[in-house]
Amino acid sequence: MISSKISSNLSLACFVATILLLASNMHCQAHLSSTFYAKTCPTGLSTIKSAVNAAISREKRMAASLIRLHFHDCFVQGCDASLLLDDTSSFTGEKTALQNFGSVRGFSVIDDVKSKVEKICPGVISCADILAVAARDASVAVSGPTWTVKLGRRDSTSASKDLAEANLPLFFASLDTLITGFGNKGLSERDMVALSGSHTLGQARCVTFRDRLYNNNTNINASFRTTRRRRCPDIGAGGDDNLAPLDLVTPNSFDNNYYKNLLQKKGLVSSDQVLFSGGSTDSLVTEYSKNRNLFYSDFAAAMIKMGDIEPLTGSSGQIRKFCNVAN
Ligand code: HEM
Ligand SMILES: *[C@@H]1O[C@H](CO)[C@@H](O)[C@H](O)[C@H]1NC(C)=O
Ligand SMILES: *[C@@H]1O[C@H](CO)[C@@H](O)[C@H](O)[C@H]1NC(C)=O
Repeated sequence: MISSKISSNLSLACFVATILLLASNMHCQAHLSSTFYAKTCPTGLSTIKSAVNAAISREKRMAASLIRLHFHDCFVQGCDASLLLDDTSSFTGEKTALQNFGSVRGFSVIDDVKSKVEKICPGVISCADILAVAARDASVAVSGPTWTVKLGRRDSTSASKDLAEANLPLFFASLDTLITGFGNKGLSERDMVALSGSHTLGQARCVTFRDRLYNNNTNINASFRTTRRRRCPDIGAGGDDNLAPLDLVTPNSFDNNYYKNLLQKKGLVSSDQVLFSGGSTDSLVTEYSKNRNLFYSDFAAAMIKMGDIEPLTGSSGQIRKFCNVAN
């Protein structure tokens, strides 16, 4: 009796705490809303979608590149389009950070989307929101999940190479380092494993997976390693920029093959295979490999969470006219 009374009091306390927490969260993010541009630019979202679809039909890989842009934006001083800024005399931007240089791409597609949007509603839609919407539209274009994008982010006036290098995950990171890094952004292990599933798309350069092919590591499928070594020779023999698909089965369509590959030790980059290497994330990888729909719904939820990282709202920041330079 007493213990059930205590536990019901406890759960009441938890309930109240949750409501307070929700209320404070809602307060923090009151400015992001899916209808933010409904009055100021009613055709804005469909304009973004057609330009994104056109870019992806020209080149399938662009879907991957656009999803990655939103991720690399949000992890560095929040989802504020800082990634898109060129260097200026007052700061060195993020494009030359180790994790971006030579691999991050899609800037010209974003510039093209921005110019189309500026034509219909000048000075209204931020570059940060364009990145968020383009990531969702890219997922849909390659038969991935859809979600409702919250809007109202504003653009930064500066960017930082140092912050990019400190905040973006590295391909050789351990599982613990990855978990901590995502945790610092308010993302759980589950979010991290689901978001990593976007490596169902796109390509990586030999420099990012060479070590995995030659370091005598046993957590790699031998026949897969032989195949990948052909276009990624050992250090000193060149080929640094040779590409290989992150998902060897279906690199241009969004599905759960990424997780199936990990079960067979066919993750391309070390940070992929560490998600299935005897640690705490093994069970999630197994679940997603068996249940595509679960992966899709967790991915969508995690993308929404990622899109909520430290947005500039209200009168902070600005709506850039051109995404590569502050007004
Ligand atoms: C868990 C930590 C992660 C690490 C260490 C990581 C690392 C990498 C690396 C090394 C590449 C290849 C880059 C190159 O060639 O230099 C890559 C590509 C890619 N990453 Fe990640 N990634 C991570 C998480 C994510 C997340 C959370 C997303 C999106 C939500 C994402 C989306 C992509 C996509 C789509 C590509 C292919 C891009 C293209 O082909 O243009 N990654 N990632
Ligand atoms: C891997 O193993 C081979 C043969 O046992 C050895 O010659 C080589 O030095 C090892 N490489 C590394 C990076 O440990
Ligand atoms: C390695 O790949 C081969 C060929 O795709 C496959 O038959 C085998 O089951 C894989 N090995 C492991 C340990 O999963």
